Amino acid sequence: MTIDMRVMIGTKTIIDDQVSKIIINLVNTNPKAVLGLATGSTPAGVYAALVNDHITHRTDYHLIKTINLDEYANLDTDHPNSYRTYMNNHLFDHINIRLEHTHFPDSTPFVASFLEQHPVNLQLLGIGNNGHIGFNEPGTPFESSVRLVSLSDDTLSQNARYFETPDQMPKKAYTLGISDILKVHQIILIATGPHKARIIKQMIEGPITPQLPASVLRRHPDVTVYLDHDAAALLDQSLDIYTKGGVALDIIA
Ligand code: PGA
Repeated sequence: MTIDMRVMIGTKTIIDDQVSKIIINLVNTNPKAVLGLATGSTPAGVYAALVNDHITHRTDYHLIKTINLDEYANLDTDHPNSYRTYMNNHLFDHINIRLEHTHFPDSTPFVASFLEQHPVNLQLLGIGNNGHIGFNEPGTPFESSVRLVSLSDDTLSQNARYFETPDQMPKKAYTLGISDILKVHQIILIATGPHKARIIKQMIEGPITPQLPASVLRRHPDVTVYLDHDAAALLDQSLDIYTKGGVALDIIA
């Protein structure tokens, strides 16, 4: 039976615990690993678990490099809503990573050459309500690489809540492309909450299509999707893809 995707269903607490342990294990076994990181509400619990672990066990990040999926354009990096600020606040300021080893896509060719020289060992992903990964919005060609994009109306309305007024939200961002994401060794996508249930069902059970960028992950050889019970609520576990092949589904708690 070929497995296109592993799906783990559990509580948010268990997901944060398991995903953080996978990252800690990678950092311990490969101290020079390159981590692909995501922002948003979804991975915050994983970062909190990594910080707790670092305080308790002194897990060593001093040779670890990171590349984030995306960053707003035309926003100062020290703006409270920049993804640089998010990462510093949630993770980088609390572990012994060197800030010069932490990277974000920007207007320079740096990230494209960084990715060529430093294959990403593990990519953490969330998923937008419209199926985007990074800021690869619906309709993005699967061949796309790092670039400047215009944000979709869905994304503008999903993320405007983080800004004081909606018009303060940048309309453009730099993002890794889908081809960049597909090149990483291992992918972990996390989705939690009932608002993700519809898009998760389409991503796993529907067609692989640029209209739903995250669906392309089913072509990657090492993807694990962690869902809480709300995000998994619409999956139809009687479908052949679960019972006869394609998706390996596991209830973890
Ligand atoms: P969220 O965003 O974690 O805030 O839900 C995910 C995304 O848009 O990729």
